[in-house]
Amino acid sequence: ATSWTLPDHPKLPKGKLVTIIVLDGWGEATADQYNCIHRAETPVMDSLKNGAPEKWTLVKAHGTAVGLPSDDDMGNSEVGHNALGAGRIFAQGAKLVDAALASGKIWEDEGFNYIKESFAEGTLHLIGLLSDGGVHSRLDQVQLLVKGASERGAKRIRLHILTDGRDVLDGSSVGFVETIENDLAQLREKGVDARVASGGGRMYVTMDRYENDWGVVKRGWDAQVLGEAPYKFKSALEAVKTLRAEPKANDQYLPPFVIVDESGKSVGPIVDGDAVVTFNFRADRMVMLAKALEFADFDKFDRVRVPKIKYAGMLQYDGELKLPNKFLVSPPLIERTSGEYLVKNGVRTFACSETVKFGHVTFFWNGNRSGYFDETKEEYIEIPSDSGITFNEQPKMKALEIAEKTRDAILSGKFDQVRINLPNGDMVGHTGDIEATVVACKAADEAVKIVLDAVEKVGGIYLVTADHGNAEDMVKRNKSGQPALDKSGSIQILTSHTLQPVPVAIGGPGLHPGVKFRTDINTPGLANVAATVMNLHGFLAPDDFETTLIEVADK
Ligand code: 3PG
Ligand code: CO
Repeated sequence: ATSWTLPDHPKLPKGKLVTIIVLDGWGEATADQYNCIHRAETPVMDSLKNGAPEKWTLVKAHGTAVGLPSDDDMGNSEVGHNALGAGRIFAQGAKLVDAALASGKIWEDEGFNYIKESFAEGTLHLIGLLSDGGVHSRLDQVQLLVKGASERGAKRIRLHILTDGRDVLDGSSVGFVETIENDLAQLREKGVDARVASGGGRMYVTMDRYENDWGVVKRGWDAQVLGEAPYKFKSALEAVKTLRAEPKANDQYLPPFVIVDESGKSVGPIVDGDAVVTFNFRADRMVMLAKALEFADFDKFDRVRVPKIKYAGMLQYDGELKLPNKFLVSPPLIERTSGEYLVKNGVRTFACSETVKFGHVTFFWNGNRSGYFDETKEEYIEIPSDSGITFNEQPKMKALEIAEKTRDAILSGKFDQVRINLPNGDMVGHTGDIEATVVACKAADEAVKIVLDAVEKVGGIYLVTADHGNAEDMVKRNKSGQPALDKSGSIQILTSHTLQPVPVAIGGPGLHPGVKFRTDINTPGLANVAATVMNLHGFLAPDDFETTLIEVADK
């Protein structure tokens, strides 16, 4: 059994309020015109960076440091918050799926054998994000899944694709669709009836998160399950090419479409007896669809028809809800997170963000676990996000509201840890709108000020960090770091995250004056933050946690 009691830190006291601010999508990069953090007025973050060098450092937030397959993988919020909260590096979904495909274990496990039962009579439907972004899904995994299923008896396969443009360049959807269409054509030559059946842009169709807007999931349901959509095409390539030709078209927001046969009928509605796999490994933007597919009682929208299917997720998306019940690959088991330890050691905790990032500082932070560890000691506040807009229209988002709620929580004296996520740099960065992202960064900085002023008032400690880069670099670069030009000679706006490191800053009147960042850790990363936070609360971290970032000189 786990011993939850944390040892006392030999030098640092207990009882100080520790405030953790996660600036979403806030990396450190060269200061140029594509660095929105540099361009924005950010006096508070500037003063942390330009203050005492032993109170500001950079840590890795991408690749193997956060459990991704390789150091070419950019960071993301899921793996970033997992690492921040868990204090250890776990092999993440992308890597686990790679391993299961490489070893062939995926075909032997329960999940695949369950859906396989439908292959004789029914169609296999695959729903998910079609790109090589590696954040929610990966094209090469989808290709292997299609191939493997066809070799194991799937005779009729239908793909329901979501175009990306958010973890990859806008416009790249065409190439991904070409690739998968080629694969499917080859399968057809071998006698497997394999086609794309429907599609749409990820932010407009299916991939909402944290129940911000069920209309998004409904649009997907109508196309995928009912076979109904406002646009009908003969092929997926024709669909994306045509829809992208519309003014202001954007991969993230393509409208829903279905592929129809000669008589105008959808080629792939989901019907009784079919099998469905949602092939995203990442949970947050698949949970809502998983609920719609799996729950008997469901009132979020009118499903019209609920097919009797065998459904499996690429992973299980929510361990507590056991959602979905069947899955192809077991998710990382992230246990004994810092949040759980600290609560069990009496640390009263407050967490807050707005809807679009609420699960990041709660669910992801706590090792993909929803709910409280101890409701008498925790309070999680969700500020409703605007829905139905792209965040470049409202780049300030709810930063002020989050900051004010957090200030009140700090001043209330009811909490020992206050933890928040400020989404602006990331959510606006993903729109690719540079001017709006500059406004977003300023708004986040202003929110930091409100929170730090409150920390100052109560004599607390702060730790300001980020989960991965985004707003600090908004252009695709070539190997020498210069903007990479496309065929027409134009720069390409980078809507995705980056490979950049992120800052960690500590301070506040409650911080022991001898605390400073160590310089002896080889490539520190986000997973080193949890032990650091435990120290700031006056505890030593468990032995298997990644080491603390700080040391304490006698002063
Ligand atoms: C998204 O889901 O919005 C992006 O794919 C990744 O962004 P996040 O990791 O910052 O949530
Ligand atoms: Co992001």
